Amino acid sequence: MSGVEHAVEIRDLHKSFGELEVLKGIDFSVEPGQVVCVIGPSGSGKSTLLRCVNLLEQPTSGRVVLEGIELTDPDVDLDAARRRVGMVFQQFNLFPHMTVLENVMIAQRRVLKRGKAEADRVARENLEKVGIAEKCDAYPAQLSGGQQQRVAIARALAMNPALMLFDEPTSALDPELVGDVLAVMRKLAEEGMTMLVVTHEMAFARDVADRVVFMDGGVIVEDGPAAQVIGDPQQERTKAFLRRVLDPTHTDV
Ligand SMILES: Nc1ncnc2c1ncn2[C@@H]1O[C@H](COP(=O)(O)OP(=O)(O)O)[C@@H](O)[C@H]1O
Ligand SMILES: [Mg+2]
Repeated sequence: MSGVEHAVEIRDLHKSFGELEVLKGIDFSVEPGQVVCVIGPSGSGKSTLLRCVNLLEQPTSGRVVLEGIELTDPDVDLDAARRRVGMVFQQFNLFPHMTVLENVMIAQRRVLKRGKAEADRVARENLEKVGIAEKCDAYPAQLSGGQQQRVAIARALAMNPALMLFDEPTSALDPELVGDVLAVMRKLAEEGMTMLVVTHEMAFARDVADRVVFMDGGVIVEDGPAAQVIGDPQQERTKAFLRRVLDPTHTDV
């Protein structure tokens, strides 16, 4: 292992679905404690990239290295590696027949084999962290979308991930609920969580991210400090995208 260990390192990553090449050679890395936001138009391959990072999709070629462990090595213990990565999706995917507390306990019990008392304690700690400890006994349908998404974040955090992936975590929320979820993510970032976040929330990306990566057509067009990529983009494609997303009259991105 070399001296510097990235939290995650992606090298020449390609992914095709049949004839369709969605990722055309992606290179980047995230350092421990960094927040990297991925922006780009719909269909540019952002979700596919995230899904390749925890091997929900098998890359066609290239390397994904998580904390020095090559996930793309056929001999790797994928389940063990995946446990190091938490994922939060646009849809919250909570179990509707379980309470909030049970939702945050189940993977701890089944996957990490934690005892009931410990899983309960860790669940309550993380529900406290996301600001909904008082909803422990509620069912998902009794919560707002923003509260459900915060439960989903607590559920991921309860597994003690080294890296958190967020795929448009606020895109399915009513506008007035977006802020609470972003506030939780901002707090995680301040606490030093390593995060890779696909988002259209440019203010969040500008304020919270260390780096912003702009993807278009399955390649990284621009990768740099957040203030630079959003405030002073160098590439025409990035400029055109930002003009569209920052124009409040334009919603079709
Ligand atoms: N499982 C799949 N099978 C076939 N095509 C897919 C699959 N997943 C994604 N795609 C295609 O890959 C392209 C990129 O999709 P995606 O990664 O979801 O983009 P983004 O998240 O940037 O909107 C799209 O053209 C999409 O239709
Ligand atoms: Mg997507």
